Amino acid sequence: MTSVIGLRVLRAHNRRMQTSPTWTEILMTDHETTERVFAAFEQALAGPTPPSTSIVADALEYFTGYVERCHNHKEEDHLFPLAEQLGVPREGGPLAIMIMEHRRSEEALAALRTFAGEYIGGRNDALPGLQKAFAEYSSILKEHFWKENDILFPMARRIFEDKDDATVLAGIAEVEGRFGSDTRERFYALAARIVETSQMRDLSENLPKDVLAAILNTLPIELSFVDADDRVRYFSHENHAKIFGRTRGAIGRVVEQCHPPQSVHKVKKILQAFKNGERGVAEFWLDFGGRKVHVRYFAVRSAEGQYLGCLETVQDITPIQAITGERRLVDEALAI
Ligand SMILES: [Fe+2]
Ligand SMILES: [Fe+2]
Repeated sequence: MTSVIGLRVLRAHNRRMQTSPTWTEILMTDHETTERVFAAFEQALAGPTPPSTSIVADALEYFTGYVERCHNHKEEDHLFPLAEQLGVPREGGPLAIMIMEHRRSEEALAALRTFAGEYIGGRNDALPGLQKAFAEYSSILKEHFWKENDILFPMARRIFEDKDDATVLAGIAEVEGRFGSDTRERFYALAARIVETSQMRDLSENLPKDVLAAILNTLPIELSFVDADDRVRYFSHENHAKIFGRTRGAIGRVVEQCHPPQSVHKVKKILQAFKNGERGVAEFWLDFGGRKVHVRYFAVRSAEGQYLGCLETVQDITPIQAITGERRLVDEALAI
């Protein structure tokens, strides 16, 4: 069976690649993909059964072939030198730290490679060393990616002009070209395979059910969910003030019983279009109790594309419509 997460990795990647990505998007998608591989491999190494030698070999190929030889060189051979040329300090500054961290990650990967080689060669006693070396390697890079995403890339974006962005993009293409055509696609497919074979769980499984329920009830949007058989299965904000009142008696009812007769055939038409895959969203807005209310229906599908039901969202957008100008986080902090 194809893993849901594995497909998501590829789909997220494909969605981004439909329009020409910027250099920041390419590098940050590399980071995101690598972090998914980290999470998957971490789970495989810690599982109740020892990891397969094939997932260890795949992870090693991804870390060496892509992260070390390709991704890091997109930055070191093109982004960093241009940033330095345009005024980002190297010695004693962020670039020196980034380069030093690349070297540290290479040393950690060399140790990982030794243990991985022994494990693949049949020495099961190499597993604790492999786990320790991987923990060291991944922690260096997780911290490193965060610094690049949040500090270095925004800093470079502020000083780069369009021609500089184009130079970095050409540099990225040059580095990827060293490894053949479709380098990124090939390694992202390898990443998806690692994620699939690890059976990595969806992040929502990290949350206890009551926390997930509290998150849904905290959203500034009211939710209702009707399953693939058009029966109401869930609504949020129970026992909270709601724009459209709803009580537990709605659960299990079919949509015909929840809408006035004059609109029910329209609702059924939308649901049919969702089921047929002809559309994925329908939206309305209305004036209600002195508020502008935005109502949206979304087709909910599994990663494999199967129709699971319809999510209705109801939001009071009156305060959003009144927004003008800007209030940034820093303004808010000053006001406290
Ligand atoms: Fe880097
Ligand atoms: Fe990076």
